Parts: sequence; C-alpha cells; structure tokens
Amino acid sequence: MTLHPNVTLVDHPLVQHKLTLMREKETSSAVFRQLLREISTLLTYEVLRDIPLTTKTIETPLEEMQAPVLAGKKLAFISILRAGNGLLEGMLDLVPSARVGHVGLYRDHDTLQPVEYYYKVPRNIEDRLVIAVDPMLATSNSASAALTRLKEGGAKNIKFVCLLAAPEGIEALTTAHPDIPIFTAAIDTRLNEKGYILPGLGDAGDRMYGTK
Ligand code: URA
Repeated sequence: MTLHPNVTLVDHPLVQHKLTLMREKETSSAVFRQLLREISTLLTYEVLRDIPLTTKTIETPLEEMQAPVLAGKKLAFISILRAGNGLLEGMLDLVPSARVGHVGLYRDHDTLQPVEYYYKVPRNIEDRLVIAVDPMLATSNSASAALTRLKEGGAKNIKFVCLLAAPEGIEALTTAHPDIPIFTAAIDTRLNEKGYILPGLGDAGDRMYGTK
C-alpha cells in the first residue's frame, strides 16, 4: 500500500497489539477506554516529534547545564465530540499543560449539512499548534467540517490524529484539507453502506461509553 504523503501510519507493535484488543467485540468499555488512552499517548509521542525545544539553565547535582525544554505553551488539543474525548485523555497524560478545546457538530437530516452545537477553543488559537482528534476517520464529513470550523476560528497550524482511517476518509480529508497532516494507527479496508469502517471496531463512542 502506498501511503498518501500527508499520512503517517503509526505502526509500532505496541500500538498494533493494543488496537487488536480494542477491535475485539468482547472487549469491555472500561478496557476499551484504557487501551484508547494508552494508544493515544503513543500517537501523541509521534505527532509531537518535531515540536520546538528551547533550553534553560538548570543545576544537576554535579554542575550547571543548558537543558532542553519545550518552547512555550503553544499547544491546543481539540476533541471532535464525542469520541474525540477518548483520545484526549492520553494526550493530556503526556502533555498536561496543553490547552483543550471541543468542537461538536451534527449532520442535519434534511440539509445533510453539518450543524455546530458546541465550539469552545483556547484563546490565541492562531498562534498554537492545534492537534485535532477523532478516533474514526470514516467518511471524513464531520472531521472535515470541524477542521474547516477551526480554520474559520483562526487556526493555521493543524494536525489531525485518529485511531483508524478508511481509505475513503483519507482521500476526502486530504482533498478538502491538503495542508493538514494525518496521523493514524491503521488504515482499514473500506466503508460499509452505513459509513462504518471495515473491519473497524464498531461505533467508537458507543464502545467507549457503553451506549449500545
Ligand atoms: N464512527 C465510528 O465510531 N465507527 C465507524 O466505523 C465509523 C464512524
């Protein structure tokens, strides 16, 4: 499979193993959430690989040194509701000082257009590296609309993180947002007629919260 240049596939064995456990239908909601949290720290590690460092003077027990630290507090993690919240936890485990925002959209049954029901993001979004998260990149309709909304809100530097992507979702998202890199733990086979990813893991929100 040739990867689209915008896509980073995080195929670390630990990620793949945990993802398999998540896919299994007998996995409980509690275990599913825990695995999602663990995988999201590993995805975050990869997505933040090139964030800038600066140095500060510290004293070790032996001598003074110029030691590397993250430059500034310029990160914003944005959860695309509701399943994005499952990825958020692990990201905050790794970067507790990051600012957090939420975007909620639903699709109007008549117009088929996305309707915003919630939008709250950190101030100065235009100066931040924005990491937008949604576990399932299926049709990409909601992710794409959320990313458009973030751009309208001023975000300029955005990366998108998901757990699973369908080839159709990657195609649509890279076409709509060619400037946004995508990080995913797996690219599955296809979408079914209801827009679910195959083989997938089912409805991520329902599996996280036991709503089905
Ligand atoms: N959203 C989900 O939760 N699962 C899918 O397979 C597709 C979209």
